[in-house]
Amino acid sequence: MDKKKLRSQQWFGKKGKDGFIYRAWMKNQGIPAHELQGKPVIGICNTWSELTPCNAHFRELAESVKHGIYEAGGFPVEFPVMSLGETLIKPTAMLYRNLVSMDVEESIRANPLDGVVLLCGCDKTTPALVMGAASVNLPTIVVSGGPMLTGKYRGHDISTSDVWRFSEAYRAGKMSDEEFYVAEACMARSRGHCAVMGTASTMACMVESLGLSLAENAAIPAADSRRKVLAHLSGSRIVDMVREDLKLSDILTPTAFENAITVNAAIGGSTNFIIHLLAIAARIGVKLDMDDFNTSVKNIPLLANLQPSGDYFMEDFFYAGGLPALMKELDGSLNRDTITVSGKPMSANYETAECFNRKLISTVDEPFNVVAGITVVKGNLCENGAVLKPSAASAELMQHTGKAVVFENIEDYKAKIDDPNLDVDATSVLVLKNVGPKGYPGMPEVGNMAIPKKLLEQGVTDMVRISDGRMSGTGFGTVVLHVSPEAAVGGTLAVVQDGDIITLDVPAGILNIELSDEEIAERKSKLTVLPNLSNRGYTYLYQNHVQQAHLGADFDFLRGGSGSEVLRDSH
Ligand code: FES
Repeated sequence: MDKKKLRSQQWFGKKGKDGFIYRAWMKNQGIPAHELQGKPVIGICNTWSELTPCNAHFRELAESVKHGIYEAGGFPVEFPVMSLGETLIKPTAMLYRNLVSMDVEESIRANPLDGVVLLCGCDKTTPALVMGAASVNLPTIVVSGGPMLTGKYRGHDISTSDVWRFSEAYRAGKMSDEEFYVAEACMARSRGHCAVMGTASTMACMVESLGLSLAENAAIPAADSRRKVLAHLSGSRIVDMVREDLKLSDILTPTAFENAITVNAAIGGSTNFIIHLLAIAARIGVKLDMDDFNTSVKNIPLLANLQPSGDYFMEDFFYAGGLPALMKELDGSLNRDTITVSGKPMSANYETAECFNRKLISTVDEPFNVVAGITVVKGNLCENGAVLKPSAASAELMQHTGKAVVFENIEDYKAKIDDPNLDVDATSVLVLKNVGPKGYPGMPEVGNMAIPKKLLEQGVTDMVRISDGRMSGTGFGTVVLHVSPEAAVGGTLAVVQDGDIITLDVPAGILNIELSDEEIAERKSKLTVLPNLSNRGYTYLYQNHVQQAHLGADFDFLRGGSGSEVLRDSH
């Protein structure tokens, strides 16, 4: 590529005072002059943080990326962005996804970068980084951090989904304090993100199936040396992508989104996939809506036997052939010619792959479940839609009518769920309000409400549960999520009362409350607007600008992008 065309040369290639300033301060790091004389400058956008345990190995991973960049003749510059540790951050990491995306977008645009490597792992770090980078649209490649090794507890393989099982056993008195405590260390025994097909693994599969990473990115364990090899190769590849001017918008085409949706169904991916993919599509200008996710219409079966929908873990998935082996089975349903970051068609990522274990990856003819993906339901309780993951739900609850037991907010839920006097039975429908994007704010993963203790003691393991919140990708149950419009903006969910009759019909795609339009309107006319949680700072910005779940819960002013041009030049 002509050196003058490198974006970074607008800084480092300048003569006079400006060029002096741009180069001189870089040289204080011991950088020789030739590194700044026309080599592609590659930013390594790093979400390393000791407060994000899933990403705590990323400084080491960045070193492997740098080796690859140097090898290909580029010049690497690593920079930090805000990181989101799913387990520690309060009130919920989702509140800050859009903030991180702004950090990423502005950091990339404002600096002398020609291409970017995104290092992401824990749930929200992946969509936040892709969203931000999409709004700038430079050549970009993703390197995921990789899953943890499978946990081992008393002879059993365990991971994050077992937290919910252990918790129910503990509440029911079937697990002691000591057993519960010991299980902690047994579960998280290596670097990496959650080892099930939760949101982090779903996001890693999403970037690979969108074509944003090299093949095999999704499943190589974080502790496996091949993860570093992948990082090295990605570093080399991004330099060539800059030379080829292969930008994010060349990769993130409508057919790439179709591929990601198809793959997500076959892996039993998290419901969070919908909200993040909608937000990414809106940033890059691809039209996508809730109905595009109804993979049940396309008859995509479940091909991966991974928790929480199945039995195994990401480490096993990798040894069985990983995502390339699964995508090979899906070949007839994929857009083979869609270009990926490799510069080659998507089919090149998987056509030589092999499956080494049919217990993990099935054929299309003999799938683990004919029911897969995410079902979008609509009705007078969710005019703009709501979602449910059938493979993680109970077959006998797919068509269910029951009386509502209503929790007005998270505090009301916590106060009442284990109350022995709660008027609830196994046929009831649990309804949780005001946990949506605006109402909580930040749409936390509380949608898979606990089964009331008195029902747990009777052996009840699943119930229909409905909310405007989200669910952890590691969670399971007959859980209707992302109800839009949410209660806090006056959706019908806001007027549900104890005893109202609710019908869920998953095969028909329906979620209805048995109330007339007049009754709903009458109840809505009496609603009072809840005050914002905060009248200053980021939370104030969030509550005033977050869009509803069916629009990806992005800020209204962040849709689309501003490209890589810098608005003003102060030097
Ligand atoms: Fe980070 Fe699960 S807590 S991926």
